[in-house]
Amino acid sequence: MAKVIVENVYKSYPRRRAEQELAPVTAEALVPSQSVVQVEQSGQPPNRSPQVNILRNINLTVEDGEFMVLVGPSGCGKSTLLRLIAGLETLTGGNIWIGDRLVNHLPPKERDIAMVFQNYALYPHLNVYDNIAFGLRRTNQGQGDKGTRRQNRGWLENLLVATTRSLPKRLRYLSAKEKAISQRVRHVAKLLQIESLLTRLPKELSGGQKQRVALGRAIARNPQVFLMDEPLSNLDAKLRAQTRAQIVQLQRQLGTTAIYVTHDQTEAMTMGDRIAVMNRGQIQQIAPPLEIYHRPANRFVAEFIGSPPMNFLQVQFLPPLGISHSQFRLTLPENWAKPLQNYRERSLWLGIRPEHFRLGVPGEHHLSVVVDLVEALGNDTYLSVHLTEEVDSTLQVKIPPDRFVNIGETIYLSIDLEKIHLFTADTEESLLVKT
Ligand SMILES: Nc1ncnc2c1ncn2[C@@H]1O[C@H](COP(=O)(O)OP(=O)(O)O)[C@@H](O)[C@H]1O
Ligand SMILES: [Mg+2]
Repeated sequence: MAKVIVENVYKSYPRRRAEQELAPVTAEALVPSQSVVQVEQSGQPPNRSPQVNILRNINLTVEDGEFMVLVGPSGCGKSTLLRLIAGLETLTGGNIWIGDRLVNHLPPKERDIAMVFQNYALYPHLNVYDNIAFGLRRTNQGQGDKGTRRQNRGWLENLLVATTRSLPKRLRYLSAKEKAISQRVRHVAKLLQIESLLTRLPKELSGGQKQRVALGRAIARNPQVFLMDEPLSNLDAKLRAQTRAQIVQLQRQLGTTAIYVTHDQTEAMTMGDRIAVMNRGQIQQIAPPLEIYHRPANRFVAEFIGSPPMNFLQVQFLPPLGISHSQFRLTLPENWAKPLQNYRERSLWLGIRPEHFRLGVPGEHHLSVVVDLVEALGNDTYLSVHLTEEVDSTLQVKIPPDRFVNIGETIYLSIDLEKIHLFTADTEESLLVKT
């Protein structure tokens, strides 16, 4: 159990030669852009050895025992960050601490972490017991003090263990170390409810069972930190929800610091003590799930977290508290006076979550929209609509399940003004978070 600190971390890969030669010369290529930078430390003249910067200025502190979720779209650098913490990649810049140790140059096995991957990575020729025991046999874990002294003459014991393993239980030779391992494996198997599977081979397991074995292998080693990279992606929806809950429960029970990577915002919202939202190699916001939902720092976070996503409309700001759109005008509640006080631009992004519309009547404060799609899920109904005067626009709207509307129908929506979000037109930062 330990705190993990990621400080000012950068990771870049050399741009592939083929990419360098084929890349068209654009205005963007001539000035240092956000995604392609020159690595200054290399001492090479600019433009000769461009690097693709995968991660930039990553700062993240995961508290001891905390469950931190890294979430972001595919390719944003989540796995790269996790692999840097694990020691499977080398840092381009910055520092990583696990507990009170600076681990920048430590190999993975000395970092006291256990990783769980999407593809389980079980040894196909070993049964469940031996898969879980594997990491314990390789280290001195599961071994008492006496065991350490025995280590040097351990080859004979190992031979006895190996040759008698397939015999009936009472004829098997168990060294002290093997006894401790056996206890640990059984304890973990009980935690994960896979005791009945210990003698099976991976090919005899379902996806969900395989994933539990992979988790068991990580837990058995009792590491300081769990690193999990999309471990539930291969499971069907129902099993995913079950295993999700089980992982959270286990982590609470064990109190082991966990860093969990996913592209799924539902997993992020339901599992994390805090969520770090990433995009294009940078952290956008770190906060507890509901704070991310209610106070997204920028338009990206607002759109990524929440399903269906938040709607955005470009509006004109009419100081001090007015906003106007070609189809409606609104006066914002007083609490917006301060955030808007120093806003000098005309244009703003108005953000509205699907659940913050109300069905209403025609009027100046209402949006007139045409229904394109109705998705009645039983407990909720979602509509896809467009503004009457803007055929290209799309808004997602949640309405009560007992309201029936037809495709092609014109309906009128009011906006719950207490729940709106405003983002600057240029940087797309939230005006609330900015002030
Ligand atoms: N070894 C590598 N060499 C070059 N580029 C890489 C390498 N590994 C990953 N990348 C690139 O880094 C970016 C981030 O990858 P990754 O961390 O796997 O994203 P995520 O896990 O968020 O989907 C991707 O654009 C990927 O193509
Ligand atoms: Mg990944």
